[in-house]
Amino acid sequence: MFLNKHHLALVVSFVLSSCSDIKEVPAEQLDPGSVLAAVTSAQEPSESRQIAEGDALVTKILFGSCADQNDPQPIWKAINKEVPDVFLFLGDNIYADTEDKQVFEQKYEKLNSIKGFQTLRQNSKILATWDDHDYGVNDGGVDYPAKEISRQAMLDFWGEPESSERRSQDWGIYTASYFGPENQRVQIIMLDTRWNRTPLTALVKDEYKAKRKIFNKGFYIPDTGPQATILGEKQWQRLEEELKQPADLRIIASSIQVLSYFTGWESWSNFPQEQARLIELIKTTKAKNVLLISGDTHSADLSEVTDSDGNSLFDLTSSGLTNTGHSPSHNQNRILGPYVGQNYGFIEIDWQAPGRPVLFGVRDVEGVTQFSKQILIDR
Ligand SMILES: [Fe+2]
Repeated sequence: MFLNKHHLALVVSFVLSSCSDIKEVPAEQLDPGSVLAAVTSAQEPSESRQIAEGDALVTKILFGSCADQNDPQPIWKAINKEVPDVFLFLGDNIYADTEDKQVFEQKYEKLNSIKGFQTLRQNSKILATWDDHDYGVNDGGVDYPAKEISRQAMLDFWGEPESSERRSQDWGIYTASYFGPENQRVQIIMLDTRWNRTPLTALVKDEYKAKRKIFNKGFYIPDTGPQATILGEKQWQRLEEELKQPADLRIIASSIQVLSYFTGWESWSNFPQEQARLIELIKTTKAKNVLLISGDTHSADLSEVTDSDGNSLFDLTSSGLTNTGHSPSHNQNRILGPYVGQNYGFIEIDWQAPGRPVLFGVRDVEGVTQFSKQILIDR
């Protein structure tokens, strides 16, 4: 969404800065990882009452991330009470952490056995992308060797048609969907931040302890090299085409935080050129009413930056549906939050009220709003 505040200059200066004085080691050496096990039988949801893409008017979109299939998932009670038109899974939808097709399937079936999830699946349209743990490896990217296995298991579980290009396109599982009639159209873009993401770089342990840990920051450092990318060029081209399509509200979903600065953990800030490119692309395509949403962090907040014309862009992060408890990292662009309990994100559109307000924010496991912000589609 575009209003006025803050500084794109932060992003631009970061693009220009050099990190050549910092020693780099492969991220895997510092990666704690996590491997969880689960096998139970699954239950297919009964008859679906989901809305379809197309002219169905959407007024309530909920979203979330980081749901450990082995943990109790009481949050579905509050989510299902709201009966969202659409629910977006932003990744870490299961903790698979495997290269084995059967293990993927078993862990997806564990999620499928959870009653609250079954109710959601029955009542609401679901769109999903992945983050690292359902991609298959903690903080993984382009080099993860089992990504084709993972992709088919993921798309099978989420009901993607056999003919879908998501199953074969070489820019990963990116997809875009459209809901609502002309002049009330919602565009939802689900990015793939894993398939083509170039390797991360990180501080060596001693430097991390001395320079980051004491400030509650992570160990990753920005990669400003010419090859560094999150989306890959084909996904960028697809995104540009999409942003030129007509829509009244645009939601761009990224599994990792887009506008936070600077956490030191996984985020677009580790790829400052990509971060700046996205902000610039939204401006140059004249894509109005863009709301970025993200997950992954095990806490929730709202970040805001301003483009070079002074227009604001928001990134609403919700995490996690089950996994919380991390001490929230430093985020200079945070304007609301952090909230550290289990949570989900909400986006509510009042198509009839003057200005067509959009209220968005985060609710807790009881359905109580923890923070929110309103913008107008017409302003
Ligand atoms: Fe993640």
